[in-house]
Amino acid sequence: MMPKLHSVIANGARFSARSGDILLDAALVSGVDLPHDCRAGRCGTCVMRLRKGWTFGGESRQQGMIYACRARVFSDLTLEYDVLPPVDCLDARVTRLINLAHDVVEVSILPTRRVPLLPGQYCRFTFRGFPSRAFSPTEPLDRMGGGRSFRLNVKRVPGGCVSPNFGRLIKVGHPVKVEGPYGSAFLRPGKTQRLVLVAGGTGFAPIWSIVDAALRENPRRQIVLIAGVRDLRSFYMWPALNRVARVPNVSVIATAEEQYEAHPAVRRGRPHDHLPRLTANDIVYAAGAPRMVDEVARVAEAARAMFYCDPFEASGQGKDSSGWLNVLSWISV
Ligand code: FES
Repeated sequence: MMPKLHSVIANGARFSARSGDILLDAALVSGVDLPHDCRAGRCGTCVMRLRKGWTFGGESRQQGMIYACRARVFSDLTLEYDVLPPVDCLDARVTRLINLAHDVVEVSILPTRRVPLLPGQYCRFTFRGFPSRAFSPTEPLDRMGGGRSFRLNVKRVPGGCVSPNFGRLIKVGHPVKVEGPYGSAFLRPGKTQRLVLVAGGTGFAPIWSIVDAALRENPRRQIVLIAGVRDLRSFYMWPALNRVARVPNVSVIATAEEQYEAHPAVRRGRPHDHLPRLTANDIVYAAGAPRMVDEVARVAEAARAMFYCDPFEASGQGKDSSGWLNVLSWISV
């Protein structure tokens, strides 16, 4: 028996899908280029709102949102999604390497032209001779950003394929291919609700980029910024936190699991241990280790708050890890 055909409308584009088809596959086969990257339910680039109909699988943590790369079609559907900047691929080179902490390096990269990246999105970076990695570019930690350079906060992972090589095999001038942007965990402009931003380790990169953009857009917006590390020696975010701690509408919380007693302003524990009471009016972002992101998601869901995340997944070969904030994805490699 032939599978039933369903009619799908996504942002006004119409195509057909058979019962059981993966939504993204059906769109691509029909020539409808829905946004996507990992095709594995991790990066969040393909997330969309289900307005009508039902699907099986691919539920996202945001109510009513599904991953097109995982959802199977079982009825006629009407879908909406944020229009993302077009994906570009361009040449770049490393312009600066600075050790921010004993295990975190800032990598500055100058592309040949500007990439229209939204705050919190990520790109794929291929340092010549090394496997590709996803990173969420961030803003300078100690001053207002700008310019077309990318700044990456990269955790040096012992045994990693890429990260231990910054300053060794990857030096200033090293050629890089940049592809992107990707990810749906970016700051939506024009909103006024309180932002609760939770970063673990180098998940701070996309979160800081969101803080910077949110305060540029509305310097009075209420923001709770929680940044945590395992060991206080890895706490490279001080210049950024010092900068925003002076802003009256921004609350800053620093956490560490180890060595926390070495600084009076640091609370003991993990970032999600120090979440404020959330309400349905909050917009919550989390970036960092998947377990931390899951914990924040659980609390945000219970409060029915809008939630975006960028869990930093391990990068397959070797031990590097990358961020997809999609709600992604940063990344440590
Ligand atoms: S393409 Fe669907 S989550 Fe990455």
